Amino acid sequence: MRVLSGIQPSGALHVGNYFGAIRQYIDLQRGHDAFYFVADYHALTSVRDAEVLRRYVFDVMVDLLALGLDPEKATLFVQSDVPETTELAWLLTTVTPMGWLEKCVSYKDKVEQGLPAEHGLFAYPVLQAADILLYDADTVPVGQDQKQHLEITRDIAERFNRTYGPTFKLPKPLILDEVAVVPGVDGRKMSKSYGNTIEIFEEPKAILKKCNKLVTDSTPVEAPKDPAVYRQFALFQLIRAFVPEPERSELEARYQAGGLGNGEVKKRLAEVIAETFAPARERRAEWAAHPERVAEVRANAADRARRAARVVLDRARAACGVG
Ligand code: TRP
Repeated sequence: MRVLSGIQPSGALHVGNYFGAIRQYIDLQRGHDAFYFVADYHALTSVRDAEVLRRYVFDVMVDLLALGLDPEKATLFVQSDVPETTELAWLLTTVTPMGWLEKCVSYKDKVEQGLPAEHGLFAYPVLQAADILLYDADTVPVGQDQKQHLEITRDIAERFNRTYGPTFKLPKPLILDEVAVVPGVDGRKMSKSYGNTIEIFEEPKAILKKCNKLVTDSTPVEAPKDPAVYRQFALFQLIRAFVPEPERSELEARYQAGGLGNGEVKKRLAEVIAETFAPARERRAEWAAHPERVAEVRANAADRARRAARVVLDRARAACGVG
């Protein structure tokens, strides 16, 4: 069973990325043939500085390695190391009706957020379909926000197969649990575009500063607190994500009874977040100090990915009569 997913390099990974996706990628690398890649072609739709893009790609590779993606188990590659991707994207583009792309909400959202309405942004789902179909992926673990892109991938594959004969495997989405989505410091879903993130590898002091921004209410420290109210706070949703039992129940019981203030809860949350990622932080420093090892992982993975891609691309070229 081949599992495949892509991550856009758009800056440091945050704890929402971890709970929403990366943790599951790590689980899935056991017992599956896992392909994970850093989607730098896709990032070109928003990053316009070569140095910055290179740094983001390196940083995401290092973050993923530090968090536990294992190059012995998974193929951890960079999208543009497999230029076959762009050729397949073209073949797919020729069977993709405009209407399918016009109805894509992520395009509309991004243009609304201020990204220029460029063709690459519009054609983004076709490139994503190429990423997936190029490796005969069976299962694609993604967040809810990528569901529409997965549907379009299947539609494009079906249309190509109908036009030219059976060529592509139809991938199944594995929609990752929304419950695992953690709120950002303003209470909305944690997302880079909201500016409400806590980065996985930021300094403990910076984590505390962000936790202190979490909005609660002005119930006095001594007063008993209503669980129906405080469980809605992003602060306590983060506590639920990070603080293991039995400490979590003890903390909630003390808060509920009165006498435990928000400041202290935030301080504890910040400590636990920093502690949770402390071993990964050490591994990260190791990888970052050895860029040649990262480059080796990248080259080996590119080799493996490219060999798999070549087989499918040749099949697609033969099917439609190019080359
Ligand atoms: N569009 C995805 C995102 O923004 C990233 C991505 C690119 C992807 N290609 C992919 C995810 C292929 C899964 C499969 O999150």
